[in-house]
Amino acid sequence: MADSFKLQHRKLEYRRLIPAFLLSHYTLLTILWIVGFILIVIWQRTAVERLLIYRGLASPTRPIPMLRPLVFNLSDFGAVGDGVTVNTKAFETAISEIRKRGGGQLNVEPGHWLTAPFNLTSHMTLFLAENAVILGIDDENYWPLLPPLPSYGYGRERRGPRYGSLIHGQNLKDVVITGHNGTINGQGRSWWEKYRKKLLNHTRGPLLQLMWSRDIYISDVTFRDSPFWTLHPYDCQNVVIRNVTILAPLTEAPNTDGIDPDSCVDMVIEDSYISVGDDGVAIKSGWDQYGIAYSRPSSNITIRNLIVRSMISAGVSIGSEMSGGVSNIIVENLLIWNSKRGIRIKTSPGRGGHIRHVIYRNLTLQNVRVGIVIKTDYNEHPDEGYDPNALPVIKDISFTGIRGQGVRIPARIYGSAEIPVQNITFQDMSVGITYKKKRIFQCSFVQGRVIGKIFPAPCENLDWYDDGGKLIRQSIKKNTKDLDYDG
Ligand SMILES: *[C@@H]1O[C@H](CO)[C@@H](O)[C@H](O)[C@H]1NC(C)=O
Ligand SMILES: *[C@@H]1O[C@H](CO)[C@@H](O)[C@H](O)[C@H]1NC(C)=O
Ligand SMILES: *[C@@H]1O[C@H](CO)[C@@H](O)[C@H](O)[C@H]1NC(C)=O
Ligand SMILES: *[C@@H]1O[C@H](CO)[C@@H](O)[C@H](O)[C@H]1NC(C)=O
Ligand SMILES: *[C@@H]1O[C@H](CO)[C@@H](O)[C@H](O)[C@H]1NC(C)=O
Ligand SMILES: *[C@@H]1O[C@H](CO)[C@@H](O)[C@H](O)[C@H]1NC(C)=O
Ligand SMILES: *[C@@H]1O[C@H](CO)[C@@H](O)[C@H](O)[C@H]1NC(C)=O
Ligand SMILES: *[C@@H]1O[C@H](CO)[C@@H](O)[C@H](O)[C@H]1NC(C)=O
Repeated sequence: MADSFKLQHRKLEYRRLIPAFLLSHYTLLTILWIVGFILIVIWQRTAVERLLIYRGLASPTRPIPMLRPLVFNLSDFGAVGDGVTVNTKAFETAISEIRKRGGGQLNVEPGHWLTAPFNLTSHMTLFLAENAVILGIDDENYWPLLPPLPSYGYGRERRGPRYGSLIHGQNLKDVVITGHNGTINGQGRSWWEKYRKKLLNHTRGPLLQLMWSRDIYISDVTFRDSPFWTLHPYDCQNVVIRNVTILAPLTEAPNTDGIDPDSCVDMVIEDSYISVGDDGVAIKSGWDQYGIAYSRPSSNITIRNLIVRSMISAGVSIGSEMSGGVSNIIVENLLIWNSKRGIRIKTSPGRGGHIRHVIYRNLTLQNVRVGIVIKTDYNEHPDEGYDPNALPVIKDISFTGIRGQGVRIPARIYGSAEIPVQNITFQDMSVGITYKKKRIFQCSFVQGRVIGKIFPAPCENLDWYDDGGKLIRQSIKKNTKDLDYDG
């Protein structure tokens, strides 16, 4: 009885105390502190999760775009998806609204949304619904000119300024482009024709170019018919490109590379399908004296689980612009089919820089003319100002688990006296060939080894060990190029 009374009394006392209690500064501070702590815990979880995702160490467990609290629809800004109305203003207004509010998501609804180039902003998601198509306007008068890339010093095709990209961004952070397999279509055909007829006074623009940006996540969209390179991350950090489709005609779509990581670090490209008119992927880092001066490498890049087709160039390339250096690259689980070349490393005197620590493993080559190519005389220079004594270093490259069929030349490793290929390793290679000449594993100025079963028999420039590490055949230092050169 007494206990129960005491309890009730205490309760009453407690109620009576509440108003004063809340007025106390001390308590208010405590409450604020607790709320702040909860917010920090939530923010931390998201931040850590994102970091892991950006580094390719985790898969997003939920769709990243849902993290944005503010969502707009493109049509709310007066856009018309009829394929004829030019919607540049709508894109710009929507994105500027997102910028003002510190971030948000822009939904592109089903329809054909014609637009001139526009800029993205930080903390934004561009979300393309199923059957949403962003169409790049193909009249170059709508395309702004930008200064040349500092590490190229030159518009790449033409001196001076270059056309910007259809979708562009500079100095951004936290950008997501995703959706339900909507399409970004560059309508490149008229650009390719004008380029061929030499009617353009400036270098063509990429479909998407993000410069000096970080924390970029691109997934579940289709990119097609870019006027020039398709995806061009330039001097970026933390870039994930996953589950995308990249398409362009296999011929007569000049320079429509799929993805060109250029002076980028910490990047993952995975689970994607690429079929284009030039290289599927080409890792770059600047051109000759301009790239040497800019001096930003492409490093820590993983490329995996891709199906690639390239009838003009190669499935995955490094170079030829690599003057800032390319290192710590993993290329694995690739299927390259009906292509001219599988893997290519291309460089030349004047580039400087290095290509090193590159691991290729589990590559399947199906009907590929030349499987693996290293070429050191890719003599294409921005201008006469390059230094012919700036010699790139190529070393520590390994190929493991190379399979295939219908391959004409499995390997053509052509170093030169100036640029020898050093410490190259081939292990576990078996490629079905279509060409019955004797020397189809071609080498010059190359040093390294082969380990285990290699078919067809490797060139004699390499030391050959069995799986147990026993030397089978010592290299014969034969540095002349094979005479039966076959392009
Ligand atoms: C965007 O459009 C969808 C339908 O397409 C609608 O459900 C949604 O409410 C719209 N959102 C906004 C912010 O208007
Ligand atoms: C887009 O960004 C570039 C580079 O920051 C700038 O030169 C250009 O004027 C911007 N375009 C628009 C329409 O704001
Ligand atoms: C890949 O993207 C497609 C749409 O483009 C989607 O249906 C599919 O679920 C995605 N796959 C994964 C593993 O996210
Ligand atoms: C996405 O769309 C492209 C082009 O329309 C198509 O080729 C591809 O198969 C689609 N991807 C998925 C996963 O549905
Ligand atoms: C290229 O320059 C020439 C001469 O200045 C000019 O007549 C032509 O219209 C320009 N072409 C384009 C596509 O800008
Ligand atoms: C690449 O990753 C390694 C190991 O994680 C790190 O030591 C190195 O600094 C990274 N390189 C760049 C250029 O970020
Ligand atoms: C090798 O790559 C293929 C894709 O080309 C993939 O299906 C297979 O699982 C990979 N093998 C291993 C051992 O990772
Ligand atoms: C040769 O390259 C391999 C990687 O392919 C590396 O592990 C090894 O240390 C290199 N050897 C020398 C002598 O640098």
